[in-house]
Amino acid sequence: MIEAQTETSPASFMGDLKDALRRSKTVDGYDYTAKKRYYEPAPAGDFAEPFHQVVASRRSVRKFTSKPIPRAVLDACLDAALLAPSSCNLQPWEFHVVQSPQKKAKLVEACMSQNAATTAAELIVVVARTNNWRKVARLNISQWPQPRIPKHWQAFYSKGVPFTYWQGPFDAAGKVKKAVTSVLGLFQPVPRGPFSHQDMRIWAVKSTALAAENLMLAFRAHGFDSCPMEGMDERRVRKLLKLPADAEVVMVVGAGERAEDGVYFPRVAFEREHFVRYQ
Ligand SMILES: Cc1cc2nc3c(=O)[nH]c(=O)nc-3n(C[C@H](O)[C@H](O)[C@H](O)COP(=O)(O)O)c2cc1C
Repeated sequence: MIEAQTETSPASFMGDLKDALRRSKTVDGYDYTAKKRYYEPAPAGDFAEPFHQVVASRRSVRKFTSKPIPRAVLDACLDAALLAPSSCNLQPWEFHVVQSPQKKAKLVEACMSQNAATTAAELIVVVARTNNWRKVARLNISQWPQPRIPKHWQAFYSKGVPFTYWQGPFDAAGKVKKAVTSVLGLFQPVPRGPFSHQDMRIWAVKSTALAAENLMLAFRAHGFDSCPMEGMDERRVRKLLKLPADAEVVMVVGAGERAEDGVYFPRVAFEREHFVRYQ
């Protein structure tokens, strides 16, 4: 399935230059004209029915039974979370599975002793990191899944990523990038951020929230349930897990087997027209 991508090797300097210019015109740096490219066909089969069953049967469960989640299931669900899409594949998420009884008791307290936390078999703190991109950029290079990382991806992860995500002390670099971008943006479409540490938090939380949803859907697919919890004392959670300054607690996910009376009320859903605009 995975093939080495052939690099165009132009004989002349002009050829090299033309090649570089053509690649720089694509935002992802991909050589769309290369003859031999990676090819991953869409899997055959119709997954719509089981997919919709999983999505529609996921509810926020506030009361779990005492049944434990087998470790293999927990790991499979966490692995599904890690397959979520992320900005530039920089995977800014962390999942802290809090299992030590002392820590768990403190975490329940930090979650305001909500029933969903008190009864959960597992409590997983979903964290977004704004400073992990350096490490993950290096991983993208060292663990590239083809025999050779294409030159433009190597350049992207070693130069493009630091350029984009390093904002400098007091956002100094971000401010310069913002000023330059504002001028450039008068003439062509340009990415409008991230240009500050605050932007980086939004950047990291976006991808991490997608991973959290994968996690909750995976629990459902494995016959377990979950409850996302924002109703917690973030400061206490940070202290408990000794999280570094660049960490943002996105939510705590309680998980376990749904108790018979674990869902408190029928789903409250609204017509599509309230939220979807065809333009
Ligand atoms: C970011 C986020 C934070 C939430 N925080 C809590 C919470 O602290 N406690 C709780 O019981 N439910 C919490 N919920 C669950 C919502 O109340 C629930 O998703 C919503 O009412 C829809 O119900 P459903 O999940 O069963 O479809 C949260 C959901 C999200 C997405």
